[in-house]
Amino acid sequence: MRGRPAGFTVLGMSIISEFLRHPFRTGAIAPSSPRLAEAMTTGIGLERARTVVELGPGTGVFTDAVLRRLAPGARLVAVEVNPRLAADLRARYAGLPVTVVEGSAEVLADHVDGPIDAVVSGLPWTAMPGHLQRRVLGQITSVLRAEGRFTTFAYSHTAWTPPARRFAASLRASFGVLERGPLVWPNLPPAFAYRAALPVAATGGPRGRSAALAH
Ligand SMILES: C[S@@+](CC[C@H](N)C(=O)[O-])C[C@H]1O[C@@H](n2cnc3c(N)ncnc32)[C@H](O)[C@@H]1O
Repeated sequence: MRGRPAGFTVLGMSIISEFLRHPFRTGAIAPSSPRLAEAMTTGIGLERARTVVELGPGTGVFTDAVLRRLAPGARLVAVEVNPRLAADLRARYAGLPVTVVEGSAEVLADHVDGPIDAVVSGLPWTAMPGHLQRRVLGQITSVLRAEGRFTTFAYSHTAWTPPARRFAASLRASFGVLERGPLVWPNLPPAFAYRAALPVAATGGPRGRSAALAH
């Protein structure tokens, strides 16, 4: 499985059918690949985290990768707006340290008790208008602890579109540290991960402070 785009598995079929029902909200025709999930969950301190939030888990590709890294006693709260996907996730992760919330990332602070150690996002940012991107980022930085980490991904072929550039600018405004990872080719389509630290809402600190992401 490692490195293979997951478009034609059973889970892939459920993302395709949800894409046909809600193209903008779903934002992708295939689930992310295990290779992208690996890139998304590396170097954000999940091994030391107590509480992690995942936004837009879809069929659970990133959820699996997060769970593999969590220490005993840690919890993952997965916030999924699509009721069908949320119900499938709840059944799939029953008995594991995952709480599936059927709800929107727009009101994340209502769904979780902060502070949160890390937020992993699979949200379709480029399908959102700028004000919604900023609102969700505001929710994320309001629940993250000052040392918390945020990771999300972007498709390389849309990186130069206005929504993607708006999102990148909002990320830079929301975090003191922002890194862009290498392109992950075995993904449909190829994508890269963003990793961010020093949420300005939590630290109140100036933008662009130099600090390295702890690996
Ligand atoms: C591009 S799919 C990603 C699914 C999965 N994380 C992956 O990478 O394969 C986006 C997911 O975000 C969910 N989503 C979209 N808007 C959301 C919102 N406002 N709050 C929570 N989930 C949302 C969609 O229902 C969908 O499951």
